[in-house]
Amino acid sequence: MEIETSWFLQFLNACFYFLALCFLIFPPLLYLAGLKPWCNCEICHTYLTSSWSKQFDNLCDWYAHLLKNSPSKTIHIHVIGNTITANPNNVEYMLKTRFENYPKGKPFSMILGDFLGRGIFNVDGDLWRFQRKMASLELNKYSIRSFAFEIVNYEIKTRLVPLLSLVGSKKDGVLDLQDVFRRFSFDCICRFSFGLDPRCLELSLPMSEFADSFDLASKLSAERAMTVSPLVWKIKRVFNIGSEKKLKEAVSMINVLAQEVIRQKRKMGFFTHKDLLSRFMSSVDDDTYLRDIVISFLLAGRDTVASALTSLFWLLAKHPHVESAIMAEADRVIGANKEFTSFEELRELHYLQAAVYESMRLYPPIQFDSKFCQKDDVLPDGTFVRKGTRVTYHPYAMGRIEEIWGFNCLEFKPERWLKDGIFFPENPFKYPVFQAGLRVCLGKEMALVELKCVALSLLRKFHIDLATPSHTPRFSPGLTASFSGGLQRMKCKKNSSGDFRV
Ligand code: HEM
Repeated sequence: MEIETSWFLQFLNACFYFLALCFLIFPPLLYLAGLKPWCNCEICHTYLTSSWSKQFDNLCDWYAHLLKNSPSKTIHIHVIGNTITANPNNVEYMLKTRFENYPKGKPFSMILGDFLGRGIFNVDGDLWRFQRKMASLELNKYSIRSFAFEIVNYEIKTRLVPLLSLVGSKKDGVLDLQDVFRRFSFDCICRFSFGLDPRCLELSLPMSEFADSFDLASKLSAERAMTVSPLVWKIKRVFNIGSEKKLKEAVSMINVLAQEVIRQKRKMGFFTHKDLLSRFMSSVDDDTYLRDIVISFLLAGRDTVASALTSLFWLLAKHPHVESAIMAEADRVIGANKEFTSFEELRELHYLQAAVYESMRLYPPIQFDSKFCQKDDVLPDGTFVRKGTRVTYHPYAMGRIEEIWGFNCLEFKPERWLKDGIFFPENPFKYPVFQAGLRVCLGKEMALVELKCVALSLLRKFHIDLATPSHTPRFSPGLTASFSGGLQRMKCKKNSSGDFRV
């Protein structure tokens, strides 16, 4: 009886707290956060019932549809307090004019905090300014650019080409290019950042524990953002259960390895090493901070490059005339039987650059990016933004808007980037694929070199085709966009000349 009474009292207690939360605490909190969970406008209703999925493959396509049809090119999802814009003036305002009012903010840095720590990707203010300055100084040096070029070409020649040759030599040889590009870009960015070679593209070897843990940690961190409320993952973290337990284990594994690399470098002397970690070691003593700085680079430079390469090869397979134009340009500029030898030479390939930009216009590796408004504000299109609101700019939708790219915005047309055969970049706030303004991507030049080297080397050696041309892969958003199920069944054949021309 005593037990039953205490159970009953506990139940009453719980009811009391539940009602207090529902009626007294949640509404003011939600009001202050600018959220309206009760909003029944058409957009919020469609969002809450997920009825958009009847007509659209993924949320980004639905947002693109709404943004296209909005006169101001800005929409609101009231129930989650998110203002989404595809208006270049608004993008410039938040990324440049009023940069200080639109930081990444706490909600974002908490989600990635356990994985990225105080790394550049995850911080604002002075911590960000310090790393930005230090990294920009290093990345602008000629020596690091040629180091990146060296790494990428080594990986192409000794791993990527032999792998595709092997597949091409088999009858009906097919492979998942997305998986291949993910392994390729992880090898490259690890060597560039850490001076460490995980050898993911050596298929005879199992994926390294580091690569597996890194994959798991980015996947589980991204999943935190998809929970109904941050409370869900925070409670799981306190009790160390489920996905949070796995995340903790993956991060521990990454930390052990990172600390070991740092220890070895200190022991051997880091001054002669060319990788980023060694360069940063002369200005930073704190090993945990060093680990955080480098891990941000791995995350920033891995899946983005793989995603860009996957969509580029998919689009090229669908548009053979673009592939022919790339090859014709390379034969003219480099020479039909000659190899490119420096990254400067790649600058002369204007059509190739245009094709790379054009594929990311339609399939940006980072489809959308959010900031959190610090103080009440009004965007250039007249939209009022309350303090605390999440404001998202949407490169994926922007690439599909006629007012920005013209009536043929949905077509893959590299020519739109050329004037008299010379590549002309667009206003970066119209094309924020690498973000723009003060926090523009630090690896943009390296990424472009990587994409152009791979495209040129593979196109000149192989004929890569879709095994099932009628199948359109589904684009799936995440921290970085990918094709769900991969880019399966790409057929590789050696070029008709039969020999390698590079
Ligand atoms: C096609 C490839 C790439 C694309 C499309 C891309 C795009 C972007 C975007 C949109 C951001 C802003 C993200 C945000 O603030 O939330 C960013 C930031 C950044 N990217 Fe890239 N990126 C690419 C490759 C790379 C590579 C290869 C590296 C490393 C060498 C890199 C290093 C960085 C860093 C360090 C930042 C943070 C900059 C800051 O916060 O000041 N990125 N990138």
